[in-house]
Amino acid sequence: MVESEQDRGIIELLNEFCRELLNDEETLSGIKEKFRKIDAPDLENLDSITRTAVEREIGQILSSRTIERARYYARSLQNGLKSYSETENEAINLNLWKGYDHIITDSLWNLGARAREGHHKAWYWGNFVPQIPFQLISRYTNPGDWIVDPFCGSGTTLLEATRLGRNALGVELNPEVYRKTTDVLKEVTGTEDSKAVLENHDSLRFDFSAFLKKENLPGFKLAILHPPYWDIIKFSENPSDLSMADNVEDFTEKLARLAGGLLPAMSPGSHIALVIGDIYRKGEVIPLGFRSMDALSGLGLKLRGIIVKDIQNTRAKRNSESLWRYRALKSGFYVFKHEYVFVFRYK
Ligand SMILES: C[S@@+](CC[C@H](N)C(=O)[O-])C[C@H]1O[C@@H](n2cnc3c(N)ncnc32)[C@H](O)[C@@H]1O
Repeated sequence: MVESEQDRGIIELLNEFCRELLNDEETLSGIKEKFRKIDAPDLENLDSITRTAVEREIGQILSSRTIERARYYARSLQNGLKSYSETENEAINLNLWKGYDHIITDSLWNLGARAREGHHKAWYWGNFVPQIPFQLISRYTNPGDWIVDPFCGSGTTLLEATRLGRNALGVELNPEVYRKTTDVLKEVTGTEDSKAVLENHDSLRFDFSAFLKKENLPGFKLAILHPPYWDIIKFSENPSDLSMADNVEDFTEKLARLAGGLLPAMSPGSHIALVIGDIYRKGEVIPLGFRSMDALSGLGLKLRGIIVKDIQNTRAKRNSESLWRYRALKSGFYVFKHEYVFVFRYK
């Protein structure tokens, strides 16, 4: 993170106010008067996380009723400012934790309607909303890091990664989908620092480590896996397609084998996210999500989160709500309104 002269000016000024408060040179009302004069334009050159955190701390100093409380927030503000240029390799800078409002830390994701930012076109049946990769990428990677999506589909992960200044490799089995996604990616002008590479390949056989070696990269910081939900949507007739698996056991075995093949290419301390839903079969719920979660846990990954994501806004059942309700009442089942995001840490 590069500090411009203007940033340095406002950072020094804020530090000076904090010092005055902490060194007994200012009264509570005097320091509030000074902080009140800091306006939004003074902060506009700071990156959005630093700006949000600084605004929060100033707000808390202004609403402090005692000088001890104001000093507490002044110390917190000082810490945040100190780390402004020192912690660029951390995905989350805890000294600025108040600036991360955009990151969800709860296990229930009500993401609402599909986000409109970026170049996402939602042309692919079975895609996910950009908010999913947005959350994972913002939380677990820094600008410049590499992300991998072995079930790339329409490239939602790749588009979101480049929009956020990261790089991404996508692997997609279906040649038609690969071609269309390649065309979409061509239209997108990533910055020079952010690359999107798409390969038409079977991820069960793709050599992710060889890719890293060829590109001279240390390892992926995040893998986002959004496989077919077994055969709910048949993506192709290719026997390697996970939607063609013979049964649930075959599906989870292939998923685990694919993830296992990816692990040598993951950096230590990186994260692997699996997005998947459950299915019905012959009047029974098959908890495909938990079966898949168990399959990945078996690889020695540490489970960090089981997120339940609301799917009420997706297209699939929106136009046939009453039919599904009728079927549910008739057969005694519940209509799925959620899917899962399982987050694992590698090493
Ligand atoms: C649920 S979709 C992913 C959609 C994607 N997240 C998006 O937003 O467009 C799953 C994708 O995995 C692909 N796929 C299935 N088996 C595969 C395999 N063995 N290797 C690579 N891709 C595979 C399918 O063709 C399909 O495009």
